[in-house]
Amino acid sequence: MDIKNIYIIGAGLMGGGIAQVGILNGFEVTMISRSMESLNRSKAVIEKNLKKDIKRGLLTEEAAEEALKHLSLTPDMTAVKDADLVIESVYENMELKKQIFSQLSDLCREDIILATNTSAISVTSLASVVKNPSRVCGMHFVSPVPKMPLMEIVKSIVTSSETIAIAREIGEAMGKRCIISKDSPAFLLNRMLLPMINEGSNLVEVGIGSIEDVDAAMRIGLNHPMGPLEIVDAAGIDVIYSAICAIHNETNDPKYKPSLLMGNMVRMGWIGKKAGKGYYIYNEDGTKTPNPDINNVF
Ligand SMILES: NC(=O)c1ccc[n+]([C@@H]2O[C@H](COP(=O)([O-])OP(=O)(O)OC[C@H]3O[C@@H](n4cnc5c(N)ncnc54)[C@H](O)[C@@H]3O)[C@@H](O)[C@H]2O)c1
Repeated sequence: MDIKNIYIIGAGLMGGGIAQVGILNGFEVTMISRSMESLNRSKAVIEKNLKKDIKRGLLTEEAAEEALKHLSLTPDMTAVKDADLVIESVYENMELKKQIFSQLSDLCREDIILATNTSAISVTSLASVVKNPSRVCGMHFVSPVPKMPLMEIVKSIVTSSETIAIAREIGEAMGKRCIISKDSPAFLLNRMLLPMINEGSNLVEVGIGSIEDVDAAMRIGLNHPMGPLEIVDAAGIDVIYSAICAIHNETNDPKYKPSLLMGNMVRMGWIGKKAGKGYYIYNEDGTKTPNPDINNVF
């Protein structure tokens, strides 16, 4: 199948990241979100990222300019009628995603792949609301998408091998090493990552270690590029928390019991870097310091 026009639903951290790698790798990308404001915000982030790459010598000005010509924005969902592939990347909410997949099923050509970038929601549930569900799969990118060269392809019980092959082809064209997971709670990567983040939060909550030391343990002790609390702050604590809750609900496995501290932080809106406050406070000068309010939970 010749795939040229990729439509991305959702213009947040991930939607914007996927759009950026798409336009840099020769695809025509259209981002769809609820408002032009959020779409323009996302485009501004892409422009800023491309400028940084130019400064670092990773991209020429001409290539960046050319890439941006292949990015379109629209709040109109019916535009997906022209899509060769759709990647859904809206909030991690089952009802919302089902509603979007049901709309996509009505609006898109019946032969195209409908992919979700969900971190933990059942791909089979999303396939169940679509005509021809064998074309539904997960294309789970890793944040930050332009930097992380992995994509997890998720195969539901009805996903066809042709769908998997096409998803792999597109992932590789975007420069990603593709791994395949059967549809199971949180797939492969998050099934291992989320308990580490959750446990990092628990260790801080019960006072076994400080925020900085929990991160240093994994960063310095195991050479991870970021500590678990730095990762959750960057990814969005709301997103990660709902993924942990989803695995716990599905498996009832106590090792995924969501951290109470993390839940309370979400309730307070301390959802990480995007809010300026999570396990760390993000200062205007670009530095970060451990969130002193977290100590008040004891
Ligand atoms: N943040 C991460 O590290 C990460 C990593 C991998 C996968 N994911 C998954 O990617 C998806 C998006 O996460 P994110 O971090 O980009 O979230 P985000 O909150 O940054 O963005 C969500 C976007 O969805 C849009 N949206 C909501 N309802 C919509 C609708 N009805 N129609 C169109 N757009 C709508 C919002 O306007 C927003 O732009 C989630 O499923 C998440 O689990 C996230």
